Amino acid sequence: MDKNKVIKEYKKKINLLKKYDKFYYQKSDPIVSDKEYDELKKWVLKIESEYKDIKSKNSPSGKVGYKPSKNFQKVSHRVPMLSLANAFTEEDLLNFEKKILNFLSENKGFKISYSAEPKIDGISASLIYRNGIFEKGLSRGDGREGEDITANLETIKDIPKIIPDKDFPKDIDVRGEVFIQNSNFENLKDKFANPRNAASGSLRQKNPEDTKKIPLNFIAYTFGFEQGLKQKKQSDYLKKLDEWGFKTNPLNKTVAGIKNLIQNYNEVEQQRANLNFDIDGIVYKVNDFDLQKRLGNVANAPRWAIAHKFSSNKAISKILDIDIQIGRTGALTPVAKIKPINIGGVLVSNATLHNEDEINRKDIRIGDTVTVERAGDVIPHILSVDINKREKNSSKFIFPNKCPFCGSKTVKEFNKVTKKIDAVRRCSSEDYYCDKISIEKLKHFVSKDAFNIDGLGKKIIEGFWQLNFIKFPQDIFKLDYKKIEKLEGWGKLSTENLKYSINEKKNISLERLIFALGIRHIGLENAKLLAKHFISFLKFQSLSKTKNYDDLLNIDGIGETQVSSMKVFFSNKINLKVLDELGKILVIKNATAAKQNGLFKNKTFLVTGKLSGISRAEVKSLIEENSGITVSSVTNKLKYLIIGEKPTRRKVESAKQLDIKIINQEDFLKMLNKTS
Ligand code: IVH
Repeated sequence: MDKNKVIKEYKKKINLLKKYDKFYYQKSDPIVSDKEYDELKKWVLKIESEYKDIKSKNSPSGKVGYKPSKNFQKVSHRVPMLSLANAFTEEDLLNFEKKILNFLSENKGFKISYSAEPKIDGISASLIYRNGIFEKGLSRGDGREGEDITANLETIKDIPKIIPDKDFPKDIDVRGEVFIQNSNFENLKDKFANPRNAASGSLRQKNPEDTKKIPLNFIAYTFGFEQGLKQKKQSDYLKKLDEWGFKTNPLNKTVAGIKNLIQNYNEVEQQRANLNFDIDGIVYKVNDFDLQKRLGNVANAPRWAIAHKFSSNKAISKILDIDIQIGRTGALTPVAKIKPINIGGVLVSNATLHNEDEINRKDIRIGDTVTVERAGDVIPHILSVDINKREKNSSKFIFPNKCPFCGSKTVKEFNKVTKKIDAVRRCSSEDYYCDKISIEKLKHFVSKDAFNIDGLGKKIIEGFWQLNFIKFPQDIFKLDYKKIEKLEGWGKLSTENLKYSINEKKNISLERLIFALGIRHIGLENAKLLAKHFISFLKFQSLSKTKNYDDLLNIDGIGETQVSSMKVFFSNKINLKVLDELGKILVIKNATAAKQNGLFKNKTFLVTGKLSGISRAEVKSLIEENSGITVSSVTNKLKYLIIGEKPTRRKVESAKQLDIKIINQEDFLKMLNKTS
């Protein structure tokens, strides 16, 4: 990349980081995953190391956290609150120790003891005690200046307000983490993505009474300014904190040697899902305070400490149960209910098991200890099972052979295209027999690409179903709004709005309607093709009488799978009734009719190779608008083969043999009088 481009990209990413920081630190509502943020930051730091002269004043390398928000009074920290460098691999740890030994000018034989402390994922705070009295509490802010959140911190039970012990330093900033326990987070799940956000939100309430409502905890682990601290080691300081009435992490340990650090890391990671608080790694601190002093800081992190982070997209947890869910096509999807665990900033309690085959292949059982992965926005899934942790009396998971919702037989179908038995098991009931499938079908009917009805979300569909308001698609247009208005949570205005948005959607295009019906294998693209073929709703509807299914095979893009699915749909009496009712209620717009006697009447086309300045879709629609037909293979029915760049040789050869006219893009446009 040339330098100007790099600079431009660099500035863009710095601004993005700034924006993300604002949401994370000021609003306690992050808009990207930790992983995405870390990757962005990594890129910025890499560029800064390659191009020494481009560093921005907003660079993450010079910052800790974000400027305090305006709600609270700003106060300078007497000793800055630094951040920690991260380690992810054994190699990172070896490097960390090597740098320490180099700095101290010691050789490999020099044994360093570390205080290994599980890193709680919360909000750090600095508590100023003078003469044993809690005087003031600050948030981290930007590391140099924090916010005075004393009143809110005072509501936390774990924070001692008076420490009468004569050993307690005369003046000290006790620092630690404010967090919320997972069990308390349960009730707040709907409001925050994870316990960390909940803690941050609670701590930033303007009114301490509001902070009180969300139970916060505090664990102490370090200090800032101090006068009169007698301890010489971190482990002794932690012990003393306990005596003084602070809470410390019960999993803190003193460990020496990288191999032992890693063993401890693995052990703690195993226990992670059983803890009542979120941890995202382990902090290692050189235990000896004199050594810490000698080592000092680099930029904004101490040389004597590092955070060994857990993978941001994987975690170990336990399967509590296996649930079966059902989709609108009857596919049964097993879902593992796992012990909630924070993966990359999101609390995960469900993981998809995909299908029956996947369960069998990995022999996944209830009670198993498993590694769960969450990548990007996809649903978390199970990577592997730790067989050694399996209980002796565990038994294989038996996939239900009856639909758990309607009792119909479940089946695995033979796929004609792949010539294999499907991995997915389905409920074999007919349309609208299984209640759960019906609800899913209704949700699909009102979804974005279908009827797109505002104010009729999934939860409302479920509620209306339970109340018997909606059982079939046509019922949506016959709702009794007087009854709705009286329901809890509904009022005149919201009912009026719903009525308006439903009535508005009574005008619908044929393609959207076909898609909304949720016929298996008929997605948006196929629905468009069918709409173009039938033009009018009446023609589409009469397929049940004409039974001209084979005709559909002539539509480019529609195959046997789709046709047999159409047959199934049209042979069900309930579906025909739904169509009939919808036909009476809706105003269904015809598909744009292709010219009946256009320029390309009875002419067939096929495109091969890349075109320039015009897409294949556009060429196709130009052909169809002029009553031509596009086909997908070279047969003697083909009239014109349009070739672009790098055409498929076989197609050109066959066309030559069959004496088919071979033309290029220019020729084609000339035929239409559309030369470019
Ligand atoms: S020591 C200079 N100890 O991790 C040392 N920090 O990225 C910095 N944290 O802001 C603090 N557990 O919020 C320390 N046992 C622990 C910790 C811990 C969690 C957090 C803290 C800090 C961040 C550093």
